[in-house]
Amino acid sequence: MKPVRVGLVGLGTVGTGTVKVLLRNADEISRRAGRQIIPTIAAVKDTSKKRDIGNADLIITADPMEVANHPDIDVIVELMGGTELANQIIMKAIENGKHIVSANKALIAIHGNEIFSAAHSNNVIVAFEAAVAGGIPVIKAIREGLAANRIEWLAGIINGTGNFILTSMESLQSNFGDVLTQAQELGYAEADPTFDVEGIDAAHKLTILASIAFGIPLQFDKVYTEGITQLNYDDIVNADDLGYRIKHLGLAKRTTSGIELRVHPTLIPKQRLIANVNGVMNAIMVHGDAVGSSMYYGPGAGSEPTASSVVADLIDVVRTFTTDHENRVPHLAFQPDRLSDIPILPISEIQCAYYLNMKAANKPGVLADVTRILGDQGISIEAIEQKRTDTDTQLADVIILTNKTKEAFMLDALDQLNQLPSVVDQIKRIRVEYFN
Ligand code: NAP
Ligand code: HSE
Repeated sequence: MKPVRVGLVGLGTVGTGTVKVLLRNADEISRRAGRQIIPTIAAVKDTSKKRDIGNADLIITADPMEVANHPDIDVIVELMGGTELANQIIMKAIENGKHIVSANKALIAIHGNEIFSAAHSNNVIVAFEAAVAGGIPVIKAIREGLAANRIEWLAGIINGTGNFILTSMESLQSNFGDVLTQAQELGYAEADPTFDVEGIDAAHKLTILASIAFGIPLQFDKVYTEGITQLNYDDIVNADDLGYRIKHLGLAKRTTSGIELRVHPTLIPKQRLIANVNGVMNAIMVHGDAVGSSMYYGPGAGSEPTASSVVADLIDVVRTFTTDHENRVPHLAFQPDRLSDIPILPISEIQCAYYLNMKAANKPGVLADVTRILGDQGISIEAIEQKRTDTDTQLADVIILTNKTKEAFMLDALDQLNQLPSVVDQIKRIRVEYFN
């Protein structure tokens, strides 16, 4: 059969990995796909840069639209990043009848609804396995492997940089700022780490996961997002003393009133498997009504791990070249005319347990005031501990674990607690999840 010709837009970390895997495993790949898959042209910013792509015979261009318009190219692999130019290129390629593979989670989370609609009209496939959790085939697992289930919730460590920083804070007994500098020196965190440490990258990925789990449109703007920049080593020690680890999670939960979509630091009991996912590794737990809880673990980034997903998508696309969209797995797992309009809940409506850490005067009646305010909001206390009274200031750290409550009640309680004259500094609040 005629080989399939691939045009790459971007030949950086993931692009070079993709070319190397396509070349190295060409025979295995063609045995699987039924046809040869040949990288033919690549668009880059700097055409003079030397690339680690072995003896690949590639046309190199500085114009990504040349790839989108190239008459010999069957599939465009977008590995450039960014949203606006990438969107223009992909929309043009779709209009030209080309199939798309992309690792670009920001693009899919923000422009995915229009992209899939255009792909449907033009009868082409847009595949995006590499956009979530790099090398872990979690999109395929949820969209196909778990298709029998009503998915109740999913929770993932879906940003390797953030997980590396949290793990290092624990092992090096350091605060966020010191570890971030080290992560940048080691090349794990980018020079501008905002997307990773503020939770935006995880929110992009959670948007995609929630969509394919619940059959809802992509709604990035509705994800509540909190990063890890406010965490310090004391929080990790306090959590450890109580039997928990702090992980930066993306959570999507189906409730009777809507869907919770949130990214934030979370206390998790130490014995849970996901609490033991360390360094740059990713893991996603998915709970379906039939299967129960399952977990998908592996490298969430890196040149060849991510290329592994890109090439798997390419093989899928090649296998289904001749089908029409009615006979393909739908982009968002559910038929596009059967997506649900179930609302995404505002953060004030979510329900979970909380860890509170306050600095309060060590004198009679303070804890009574604290427990009264929580009690008035109907918040029940699971554990309370007073530690480390500073001999100079007579201020003590008071750590409280609450039972599950509505966030709105916790916000009211925090307002009142922060106004107590005996409480100094803002109270630290971290959500707690049990997964049992
Ligand atoms: P990267 O190393 O920065 O590579 C980007 C590539 O795009 C480079 O080759 C760059 O050209 C090219 N490019 C940028 N702007 C361009 C323009 N205007 N015209 C033509 N070419 C342009 O990025 P990456 O790490 O491979 O990531 C690519 C995508 O994969 C992103 O969406 C990222 O979020 C996603 N992703 C990455 C990983 C990972 O581990 N890195 C994992 C999962 C998903 P030059 O080489 O000339 O600069
Ligand atoms: N910046 C991302 C991470 C890369 O740290 O997980 C993979 O998407």
